[in-house]
Amino acid sequence: MSVTWNIHPGTGITADEGDETPDASPLSINLGASVQSILSAIKKDDEDRFPAIDLSWSQQDQFGRPIVLSLPKNGLRLQFDGADQRLRLIEITDFTKLSLKYSGSELVKESEGSTSPLFKRVYRLFGASFPGKYMPPVDGKLVGIYVLGWPGVAISFPVEHAVGLQEKDHVALLGSRVTSPADKLAIFEGKTWKDARKQLFVSVISGPRNSALVSRPFDKLPNEIETARINPNEGDVILSRRSPAPPFVLHLNVTTSQDLITELGAPDTKFKMKTPVHDPTANAKKNGARRGSEVKSPPSSYSSTNTDTFDTDFDSADAEDDGDRHHRDTYLCYFSHGMDILVGAADDGHLVVKRVVIHGNLPGSAAFNRHRRLRWTMEFDVDSAVDDRDLHSEAHFEKDIKPELLTAYPDAARDSQTAMGRVINRCWDDNASESSFFLPDQDRSLTDGGDGEQEGKWLGNVRLFQFPGLMFEVGKTGGVVAVVGSQPRQMELLTTLMGVAHEKHALETENAKLKTQIDVLKIMLQSKRSVETILLDCIRGSLLEAMPAHMLLCTQAATQQLIGMTSKFDDDALAASVMAILRENHVGNLFEKMTELTNSDATGIASRLLTGWVAADAGLTHSGYGFVIYARNVKSLNISAVLDSLNNVDYLWSAIASDLRRDFAGCNQLASSAVRFGFHDAAGFSSLNAPYAPASGGADGSLLLNDEEIARREQDPLQGFRRYLLGKWNTYKAQNVSAADFVQVAASIGVRSCPGGPLYKTVVGRVDDANAAPDGNLPDAFGPGSTHDVLISLWADKGINPRELASLMGAHSISRAFAQEANGIRPGSPQDDTPRVWDTTYFNQTQAVNPPRGISRFDSDVNLGRPGTVCGGSFTEFAGNADAWATAFAAAAYKMSIMGIPQSDVDNLVDCTGVLQ
Ligand code: HEM
Repeated sequence: MSVTWNIHPGTGITADEGDETPDASPLSINLGASVQSILSAIKKDDEDRFPAIDLSWSQQDQFGRPIVLSLPKNGLRLQFDGADQRLRLIEITDFTKLSLKYSGSELVKESEGSTSPLFKRVYRLFGASFPGKYMPPVDGKLVGIYVLGWPGVAISFPVEHAVGLQEKDHVALLGSRVTSPADKLAIFEGKTWKDARKQLFVSVISGPRNSALVSRPFDKLPNEIETARINPNEGDVILSRRSPAPPFVLHLNVTTSQDLITELGAPDTKFKMKTPVHDPTANAKKNGARRGSEVKSPPSSYSSTNTDTFDTDFDSADAEDDGDRHHRDTYLCYFSHGMDILVGAADDGHLVVKRVVIHGNLPGSAAFNRHRRLRWTMEFDVDSAVDDRDLHSEAHFEKDIKPELLTAYPDAARDSQTAMGRVINRCWDDNASESSFFLPDQDRSLTDGGDGEQEGKWLGNVRLFQFPGLMFEVGKTGGVVAVVGSQPRQMELLTTLMGVAHEKHALETENAKLKTQIDVLKIMLQSKRSVETILLDCIRGSLLEAMPAHMLLCTQAATQQLIGMTSKFDDDALAASVMAILRENHVGNLFEKMTELTNSDATGIASRLLTGWVAADAGLTHSGYGFVIYARNVKSLNISAVLDSLNNVDYLWSAIASDLRRDFAGCNQLASSAVRFGFHDAAGFSSLNAPYAPASGGADGSLLLNDEEIARREQDPLQGFRRYLLGKWNTYKAQNVSAADFVQVAASIGVRSCPGGPLYKTVVGRVDDANAAPDGNLPDAFGPGSTHDVLISLWADKGINPRELASLMGAHSISRAFAQEANGIRPGSPQDDTPRVWDTTYFNQTQAVNPPRGISRFDSDVNLGRPGTVCGGSFTEFAGNADAWATAFAAAAYKMSIMGIPQSDVDNLVDCTGVLQ
């Protein structure tokens, strides 16, 4: 049985291998595929099938010149562009090695007496073509080349040279005796070879990098990532994806591992940070013990280019037990996306992204072909002095990237280690898993670049350059092997700041600075807010009223100005800390606030903002970008005025809202879980419950407060979200924020964080109940509890009528199911095909006779949406009328958010919808 290769589907050309490889699987070679995907596919096979693999690339111009992969024993040569490493040209160089077919017919017929395609046969199969290009022989040879083209295919024929050949009719010429059978066939993207060849390695290419996406386009494989934009100030990596998928924004310390799996798919493997990374011996021992060998052997095979392209010997983290899970940072390795992403527990126990490693996949580097290449750009503030046009994956590190980063981080520039970089040796018998990562810790011992006894094993030195929140591994040619974005050491700096305060306190001097710091500590004590929160709030713009003065009061994105001001501080350590915080927090997100303020009376603003402070030097300065409010040498501080402002309801809830909004950005997993959490807390109510204060099991915060309630099966998988929300609430509860309010406000912000999500009336002042709500009041999605009649009556007991229920069910527009495997639903399946958008698609697709592939519907939803019922009629109405849905949802969502609370108490709740706008 012969094996058929799919050579760029669409051209109609396939290749048969013959009988020698009975168990071989077909190889898909599509234009646009990444070097890594093709090499990995080839290397999965046995060496008999691909006995020789040759890879060549240019050392001098590695991104400008192509990477050429030759398979001489298979008669194939593949050319990839150097910058994106995608297949641009497929060349058949030896027709005797493959049996080529066009639309099922052989290109070479042995009966016609040739082992290569004859022009006549080609002409018969491919049809007429425009004249091609004749290239006369060079260097005194006698044979020229005639290249004839069809869309996407070019074939070259050797022709005995004679003067005047160009003028001849090409069909007559190629059909004559002077023309030999074809010696090469090329497949490319473009209409004609003549036009395509000029742009071959730089044009936009349509095929995906991963061949699986060509053969299984409907399998809902994760969207392919085109490029990464790193924003070091924001701690974001924006991943743009193949159209029409929207970009996915990775927020360091916010994006959860669940978000990653939803957006990027399951990782190819996981790597658990088992032991402190700076203790390689411990790592080696552990690995050795588990694998039954003391020393790890070199990778299983090398290509003819001396690069390890076979082995992926990460420790699998799949088998980890629950106890471990919360304590270990784990790398999720996405080979086909070109990234490794470190997730670890945040302070609140939630698993969040801590570091992103973007791989350059430079040929010749130690980790070559483990990941595909992911191109990146880097973005600094428009106001910054950094010219970020030169900050990208193809730039030369020393010449282009480093000088800009030294401008961006002047403190780092003063550190000679940063400018020089640290040298690391990557060698084959390095612990393989480590070799593909950066050395994440400062204190990790580094080998000096050397030769000597290890000669031969080294893959050459790379240098590691470190800037706040960024690390670069740079190869010999100056190309970036990988770049890492991680959370800047913000908390450490803030701790330093507190340290200063305590130290000075101990000195008990009467100096004004000390007084300020003691006052700050008093504020902390009385408001139970940490100086970190106060500072960060100020910097994020949510706390305009108070800020430990002689640090500064700030609004606005004028980072440069603020940094300039810190030079006037008489406390250098403090100035340095504040400066670092400003840089790392990127004051740019205050822009909105600032625009609103600049439109008001400047003096009025200054006095409002400085309430509570008497400073020797305070005021407001204008700048080209906006303004800065500052206070230095504070003489006295009216603590109660500051505390009043801190405890003001509007202030408080706008601070909470901006905090949650930041975490829920982009309608992410936290946002959708918040919406469901709000519903599950409130819907513990039923009129059949024996009434009890404060809400008879309704919106009382019990889901956040009670361990038994959250452990119920129907709460799966909200446990992780509960940990997150509890952690957040803990930072606010001292300011009289009830858990019940926090849950419902979070739900409202969750809805608002989704494109199209309506604003609905949101109130605060609820009273908590730490007892579990009565069991059995939540609806079932499958089984006997999921029928239309059972659900309608269950909701009627909560005071919700069928139309209101239909509007609430629309929240499944942003839903994905993670815990319904027992009901046959693949984890992560959405309930409509636009799960990050609050839209009416859900209603359409729930009622559709043929729903789109890839979505999973719950029985409850299909039953409620069935036409012919009141609820189903409302599904149809909302499917066609987004405004009617928004109005109905807003009313029903408010009603649900106060479920179970007696009307007399509802009357005393305070409306805070304004701060959620
Ligand atoms: C008959 C009523 C309902 C049933 C049976 C139901 C059932 C479910 C189920 C089984 C899931 C998937 C959970 C998982 O496995 O991850 C889910 C998700 C979700 N539900 Fe409902 N639901 C109902 C009503 C509602 C209502 C009234 C809302 C809010 C107004 C809502 C909001 C959500 C959201 C936002 C998600 C996604 C949660 C996430 O992404 O973590 N549901 N629902």
